[in-house]
Amino acid sequence: MLAHRISLFSGSGTAAAREAAKAAAAQGREIADLAAGEVIAAPPASVREGAIAAIQAGVNRYTDSIGLPCLRKAVAKKLSTDTGFAWDTDNIVITAGAKQGLLDASLTLLDPGDEVIIIRPCWPTFPSQVCLAGGKPVFVDARPPSYVPEIHAIRGAVTPKTKAIIINSPNNPTGAVYDRTTLQAVGDLAINYNLWIVSDECYSSFVFVGHRHQSITAAHPSIRSRTILVNAFSKELAITGWRLGYLAAPPEIVAAAKKLQSMMTSNANVIAQHAILHHLEVSDGSYEREIYRRLAAARKAGLRVLCKLKDVAPPRADGSFFFYLDLKTILARLPRTSSIRTAEDIARILLEQAGVASVAGSTFGDEAGLRLSFGAPPETIEPALEKVVATLNDLKSHEAAA
Ligand SMILES: Cc1ncc(COP(=O)(O)O)c(C=O)c1O
Repeated sequence: MLAHRISLFSGSGTAAAREAAKAAAAQGREIADLAAGEVIAAPPASVREGAIAAIQAGVNRYTDSIGLPCLRKAVAKKLSTDTGFAWDTDNIVITAGAKQGLLDASLTLLDPGDEVIIIRPCWPTFPSQVCLAGGKPVFVDARPPSYVPEIHAIRGAVTPKTKAIIINSPNNPTGAVYDRTTLQAVGDLAINYNLWIVSDECYSSFVFVGHRHQSITAAHPSIRSRTILVNAFSKELAITGWRLGYLAAPPEIVAAAKKLQSMMTSNANVIAQHAILHHLEVSDGSYEREIYRRLAAARKAGLRVLCKLKDVAPPRADGSFFFYLDLKTILARLPRTSSIRTAEDIARILLEQAGVASVAGSTFGDEAGLRLSFGAPPETIEPALEKVVATLNDLKSHEAAA
């Protein structure tokens, strides 16, 4: 008999979509995988060199459970540059990816029954981790086309039990980038109702409209004492498998995370820590600029293709690396007799008939959405999106062929 908490998790929809794509490819079909939540690229030479040097030097021991002090210092310096104000080593915890930083946040903040406001569509790990910590997710829907939440809707979800709000800008899956006014309003709300903010900024390198990423800690500096900022090198440096992230928070959270990590996992992998440290010491930012240029070009080319969709508004894709389609109209216009009822049905048809893997919005708590990644290899994106457009524009006859 397994513990009840295991039943709280439905499993990853993204992983399931990728498994289905792999199974189709194993049958000899040519599949374009636009389901992945990662940039498919070789990692920076500096990261590889740093790892090799650490291995050659025989690095092999535990580090402090919240990471090497020199790496925490280097991350504090990077974050100070990124946000425009000073962070101290004492604010930084090195984690095994953003995911561990987010779990640290839930486990340090929540007592059983505490409510956490989560903006939906959302990355499914947010509610799962809140449940794991004994908390209760309370969802606030962000609507198309912007998918930026309305502040009155967030305020309406606050109860005496609300402990925190999780925001994620740039957003997975919607690509939304919250404007400064929204970030400031979220900050005001947190102050007025005495809430914590957990700000997942792991797509911060990928903002394609306006200027650059704006952290809520920069938009509203007085909320720093009640914010856990989570970020990672996973997406920015295309090293999802290396598992290196961090959180930045007030010292009491850092002390709590230190206790937690010491009991749960100990330190993040020491070779990965040295690799990132080396990257931060020697990099001139050219790798990051190149990845950004690549994604910006893929976004532009992809949007040109997606403009041809008939019953689906082209996505905004302001940030992260996802095109998020709202299929409400297309689903509503299908005949009542149609076997296609949901975005999941459409994702299945795209895989079976167009050879394109995508992730249905149900994974993110949105029955009408569909996520397509432009972090895929660049040469695959445009042809795959052409097939998506042709299939969606001709959905009724595709159904007949099925
Ligand atoms: C919004 C969001 N946060 C966190 C993560 C996890 O990042 P990491 O691989 O660094 O744990 C992901 C991964 O897809 C994500 O989409």
